[in-house]
Amino acid sequence: MNPKQVAAEKAVEFVEDGMIVGLGTGSTAFWATQKIAQRISEGLTIRAVASSASTEALAGQLGIPLVPFSGIDHIDITIDGADEVDDQLNLIKGGGGALLREKILARNSSRFYVVVDETKRVHRLGRFPLPVEIVPFASNLTIHRLQELNCEPVVRMVQGSPFITDNGNLIVDCSFKEILNPVELQQQINLIPGVVENGLFVGMPTAVVVGYGDGTIQILE
Ligand code: A5P
Repeated sequence: MNPKQVAAEKAVEFVEDGMIVGLGTGSTAFWATQKIAQRISEGLTIRAVASSASTEALAGQLGIPLVPFSGIDHIDITIDGADEVDDQLNLIKGGGGALLREKILARNSSRFYVVVDETKRVHRLGRFPLPVEIVPFASNLTIHRLQELNCEPVVRMVQGSPFITDNGNLIVDCSFKEILNPVELQQQINLIPGVVENGLFVGMPTAVVVGYGDGTIQILE
């Protein structure tokens, strides 16, 4: 069985009747959304919010009841993927470009379950370039300031054009190779005018569910 699917389906076991559920984005969160839809067809009653336009479309196709953010004041549980998970359960997210909305959901969730396959585990974050969402205005200046933090910033492109987020912004993938102090770095990045948000999720997960190729899972908390 696909280790991403195994992890995602385990996390969906924590979803209960009546909950407001945050739906993540990416190829692992996809399996969680599918499983939630299956459980709804079997009688589960939940309401959901989506972390991206693509997940919103998927949820719509699967018949998952979505509520507008204006109609809620909290989220009970969010299930989402990650690009890297370190030994302290800090994360890099944003490989799919949805980091801002994902962080808003995670921050406002009573429980935040991260679902990954074993390839995402690292001792120290940074091998995966850190996605940073920036506004398009004077983006070259913002990118220079990011470079001063000792990274190699690259504007994410798709088919020859800059990738545009659901919020109308750019993503700069910042290669740090090794992030020694995620707490300090997230603050330094977010203090740069023009930066909207960065993909470091420090101290946020309730638990990380890791799926392995042999079909087993491990819950880290
Ligand atoms: C989306 O912006 C990301 O944060 C994803 O959650 C992350 O990139 C993990 O994606 P996969 O589950 O597809 O590896």
